[in-house]
Amino acid sequence: MHTRTFRDMNYRRLGKSGLWLSEIGLGLWKWGDPAYDGSRVGEHEGFAILDRALELGVTHWDTANSYNGGAGNSERLLGRYFQRRGQRVRDQVVLATKIRNSVRAEHEMTHEFTPNESGASRKYIIQAVEDSLHRLQTDYIDLLYHHAPDLLPDGSWVTPLDETWDAFDHLINQGKVRYLAVSNRTAAQLKAETEALAAVGANGARRIIGVQNHYNMLQRPKVAAKEEPTMADADAFLAYLAEAQIGLIPYVPLAVGLLTGRYRKGDLDESGRLAQEEWGKQFLTERNLDIVEQLIPIAERKDCTLAQLAIAWLLAHDVTSSVIAGVTKVRHLEDNTGAVHVTLTEDDLAEIDALTR
Ligand SMILES: NC(=O)c1ccc[n+]([C@@H]2O[C@H](COP(=O)([O-])OP(=O)(O)OC[C@H]3O[C@@H](n4cnc5c(N)ncnc54)[C@H](OP(=O)(O)O)[C@@H]3O)[C@@H](O)[C@H]2O)c1
Repeated sequence: MHTRTFRDMNYRRLGKSGLWLSEIGLGLWKWGDPAYDGSRVGEHEGFAILDRALELGVTHWDTANSYNGGAGNSERLLGRYFQRRGQRVRDQVVLATKIRNSVRAEHEMTHEFTPNESGASRKYIIQAVEDSLHRLQTDYIDLLYHHAPDLLPDGSWVTPLDETWDAFDHLINQGKVRYLAVSNRTAAQLKAETEALAAVGANGARRIIGVQNHYNMLQRPKVAAKEEPTMADADAFLAYLAEAQIGLIPYVPLAVGLLTGRYRKGDLDESGRLAQEEWGKQFLTERNLDIVEQLIPIAERKDCTLAQLAIAWLLAHDVTSSVIAGVTKVRHLEDNTGAVHVTLTEDDLAEIDALTR
């Protein structure tokens, strides 16, 4: 694989595109205004992490319009950062955001949304991007995701695909969006959307270049984004991405902290997200806690942390373009960044495969 470097950080192209992503990215889901929206990182700590990220060459930053219950504050925090640090810093960053869900106005505690304030319609998409640009205090989004498919109960699309993808094409033509990607998609959905975009695009440059799906060592089938997925589904999904040259950006790469060694059998870190958040329970299973005990000696043998092993394993997949672990401390970022120096041999990969498949 051809890579480039910037400040000791490796960069990979996202799918078939010419866009370079730092192998280590930043996941900003839990960022915002903690006293107001239940996020974990506010401006003070957030700015310190973003400054350190730039020093380390971590320039791929991933947010969404609706993070933290539709508050919009993850984007607002980034917007204030760009405003303070200036256009040069903004231009060095690959800014990724996602639209699909409803977002409240600033300081609004509750809001009733019309059916047009979420989804995949032309009206929603164009307005949502205008709103994100405003919160982000920038003129353009580098990578715009459609966050999750908007489906009817029978699995068909609510909005005709040509309407959705024509709206995205319009935003590319306006220069407000540089590249397009999707999230939480099956291979069949990706194929249908790729075709719809090609049909409306004025030239062959219109592509879905990346997909952001749930993937980590402990929950491998989930990458297929199907209900009740199997390992065979996951293998087929990854093979499709390789063939279609669509880059994978795995989310929850550290299983929300379980793959850092902070949660051990009988010794759970009560200050962490997994212990505090309701959805953490799906990760803290006997099986996963047992596997963690077996992964820790492998990390020790490789002279790396468990987080670095988990990220290096994701980067060992050629289809992975960047790993966007969520960080709430500067030291998390520094730890995770060390993963780019961990090389897993065929024997290491086979050993991990046997434990986690
Ligand atoms: N597209 C989607 O639908 C979707 C869905 C979910 C997430 N995402 C994206 O994926 C990103 C990553 O997912 P995630 O943040 O939920 O989960 P994650 O990256 O698997 O885990 C992040 C958590 O692990 C802990 N952590 C991270 N690095 C650590 C280190 N080196 N040592 C110790 N603890 C460490 C922190 O927990 P504490 O906060 O407890 O300290 C952090 O909040 C999100 O931020 C978001 O950008 C996208």
